[in-house]
Amino acid sequence: MKILVVGGAGYIGSVCAELLLDENHEVVVFDNLSEGHRAALDPRAKFVEGDLQDRQRILSALSEFRPNAVMHFAASALVGESMQNPSKYFRNNVAHGVNLLDAMVETRVPRLVFSSTCAIFGPPERVPIDETLPARPISPYGESKLLFEKILRWYSEIHGLDFVSLRYFNAAGASEKFGEDHRLETHLIPNVLKVALGQKPQVEIFGTDYDTPDGTCIRDYIHIVDLARAHILALNATKTDFYNLGTGGGSSVREVIDAARKITGRKIDIVEKPRRPGDPARLIASSNKIKRELGWQPQFQSLDAIIESAWKWHQKFPDGYGD
Ligand code: UFG
Repeated sequence: MKILVVGGAGYIGSVCAELLLDENHEVVVFDNLSEGHRAALDPRAKFVEGDLQDRQRILSALSEFRPNAVMHFAASALVGESMQNPSKYFRNNVAHGVNLLDAMVETRVPRLVFSSTCAIFGPPERVPIDETLPARPISPYGESKLLFEKILRWYSEIHGLDFVSLRYFNAAGASEKFGEDHRLETHLIPNVLKVALGQKPQVEIFGTDYDTPDGTCIRDYIHIVDLARAHILALNATKTDFYNLGTGGGSSVREVIDAARKITGRKIDIVEKPRRPGDPARLIASSNKIKRELGWQPQFQSLDAIIESAWKWHQKFPDGYGD
């Protein structure tokens, strides 16, 4: 198939593009390189530097390439930043996303795989979080992704656009080639590994008084390659639907740090800090629906395997993509 990967120079998009190319699909990456990196572009892919706010640019990319489907990863994705600057989130994640949908309708591209998030749920009534739980986001980021899911429903009903929306829990780890390098790094695992590499003095633990066994937040870390595989299944599925995507297991912040100490063999100092606003105590996915309906099965079940892959990548590329 021919696939346009919007946001394909970012962390998740780059690994999905890699897997698509490994499976002999033809890939064009469309990215404005605001969060993505030129060095994260798979050399086998074609590249169009463009921004979804430019309606003509995305329209001409689709008209020229005529893909069978689009994967849409381009978004602003920091919960904390969205609480300071909601406008950026509603513009980038909603308004500019609508430009993509309109261009798809105009050029008759029939299928979209959308990068959504567990942040659409807000603090859950219970875990694991399945698709029947109410979506009550507590940040503009979560709200922006939920709005886009609602827009997708209408485009499906009115224009016949088929889509699968995947709500990721905590994407982590790396492939051999591509890994996690954000210009502003707020995520736990890369920050822990920066300490292991001697690039940061200590890891800050945000909150040690949560109602969890060791007092720190629990998250469902899913290996980036497992996550990318889910996109390929979603692409080939004949369904239009929403799926939660995690492993169904949870690890606390302290467990992540302990695992990283074991895997890296390095000293990782910590400093305990107050809670970070907007962090729910426990987020764990039920992935039963995607397993049942799309046949997805994670291959990297353990936190150790996830951290090992990230550590390998960070050792190979200590400065990330170097830009
Ligand atoms: N944390 C620390 N120290 C750090 C970084 C993070 O203690 O230096 C903690 C956080 O407070 C949180 C956990 O580690 O409890 C995981 O934090 P991340 O920033 O790695 O990930 P989040 O769970 O905050 O974010 C993820 C996705 C978002 C998504 C969000 C939903 O990255 O895109 O889950 O809550 F929106």
